[in-house]
Amino acid sequence: MFSFPRFYGAWRIKELTPTPVWWLGSCHRHTAPGGVLGSGGARNNQGSKRRKKERSSCQPVLDLFDQQYSQELGELWVSARSVLLNPHSWQYGVMLNRFTAVTDVTQILQSQGFSRLLPQTDVSTLLSEAPSPASSSKYQKGKDSLLSPHCTSKCPPDDSPLQTDSTPHSLSQDLQSEPSLSLPRPSLQCYIHPYPLRFPSQPHRPGQLKQYYLLNAASLLPVLALQVRDGEKVLDLCSAPGGKALAIMQCATPALLCCNEPDPHRRDWLAKTLESFLPCSLNSRVIVSAQDGRCFGQSEAVTYDKVLVDAPCSNDKSWLYSCSSQQGEQRLKERARLPVLQVQLLQSALLAVRPGGLVVYSTCTLSSSENYAVVETVLNNCPEAELEDLWEEIAVPLSRYFTFTSAHPGHGQTSLQPCPQPQNDAVSSYHHRLGILVVPQPGKTWGPMFLSRIRRRK
Ligand SMILES: C[S@@+](CC[C@H](N)C(=O)[O-])C[C@H]1O[C@@H](n2cnc3c(N)ncnc32)[C@H](O)[C@@H]1O
Repeated sequence: MFSFPRFYGAWRIKELTPTPVWWLGSCHRHTAPGGVLGSGGARNNQGSKRRKKERSSCQPVLDLFDQQYSQELGELWVSARSVLLNPHSWQYGVMLNRFTAVTDVTQILQSQGFSRLLPQTDVSTLLSEAPSPASSSKYQKGKDSLLSPHCTSKCPPDDSPLQTDSTPHSLSQDLQSEPSLSLPRPSLQCYIHPYPLRFPSQPHRPGQLKQYYLLNAASLLPVLALQVRDGEKVLDLCSAPGGKALAIMQCATPALLCCNEPDPHRRDWLAKTLESFLPCSLNSRVIVSAQDGRCFGQSEAVTYDKVLVDAPCSNDKSWLYSCSSQQGEQRLKERARLPVLQVQLLQSALLAVRPGGLVVYSTCTLSSSENYAVVETVLNNCPEAELEDLWEEIAVPLSRYFTFTSAHPGHGQTSLQPCPQPQNDAVSSYHHRLGILVVPQPGKTWGPMFLSRIRRRK
């Protein structure tokens, strides 16, 4: 059973101060072999399946989705609707944790017919070969020093003093003088199954890191689009429960990953996730912050190499299964306010990133007003924002697994085929798609997930 460490109370009081993760208490050890499928996990899985079976969709939400998405997506909505209304068809990816031994899990996954979503061992080879401008960051460390098969770094003692006054800026300066860590080779490994076979979730085991995290595989796409490199400073602006933060840590070893979450309950969840998956040798690099994301643009201006804005949105899957009609109706009322918040968060992120740095905006809704319209508004408001096209980089190579669609400025729906490249820089932002949208379809039930990448001009 998870128990909060004694620093927890002090951490909660200092809500506006980013907090090192190492308040999280005892060090983890590598997982002992043979502990993959705890019976608790299997039971939980059965329980959650039973709960899903009992739940029916929320009519007011479905009615609104029918009205809006049939207009925005046309025929694609008919098939997306059938997937969303059949939770038994939903697929789950199994993201392995590079910070613990996973050979036994890998064997079980393979024997059950799971295969790797990303065949490359090193995720950086999947992405553009061109070196990121951020790789020249002053926080960049020698990559080789991080490529070692096992974590041998020493963990700080459990009674280390809490650094409540650390800010990401002062922390990152400290990191420059920190001796290099020896961590496993960066590798984002996610296993998927062609059928909706759900691997059991892993129960918490005190003193041991979890070996895998279950997620919608489309959630990895914003992380891939962020192209995080070793030594960069990264902000995960809307971080709880922490799935994408974990994925970032599988891809690279940033100098700093600031995981921000203003909601206290969700922040507890986030902290628990980080504690369960990351070794305490990373505690000085991964910090939890509690700010309203809209403040980062001012409080941490020009600080980060990369910022992920995985924004609060009308989470289509979960809203369709609202507990009651009243809850569904309440959510729909509040929905109109989301685009304003999303624009503010994205603009804040663009101020927090350094010139030349990247911001990825993502949501898990199909709604055009929370996706394309938000990106378009920000591009109109911020002359320093430059849209990057993800179609060739992400949609084309991964179209075997995911169904993508996209829209240009004006939101005209485009075909699923790539369109010609822009002829020159002057017109490129107009011709770029505003983002790519993963639409759940039978057999490829991943999503909904929208992602868009914006570079801050130098
Ligand atoms: C879609 S969820 C993030 C999921 C997370 N990135 C992951 O992969 O596990 C959006 C999060 O944004 C948080 N949020 C809501 N308002 C916010 C704000 N003003 N600033 C920052 N985060 C906010 C919500 O509490 C929620 O946890």
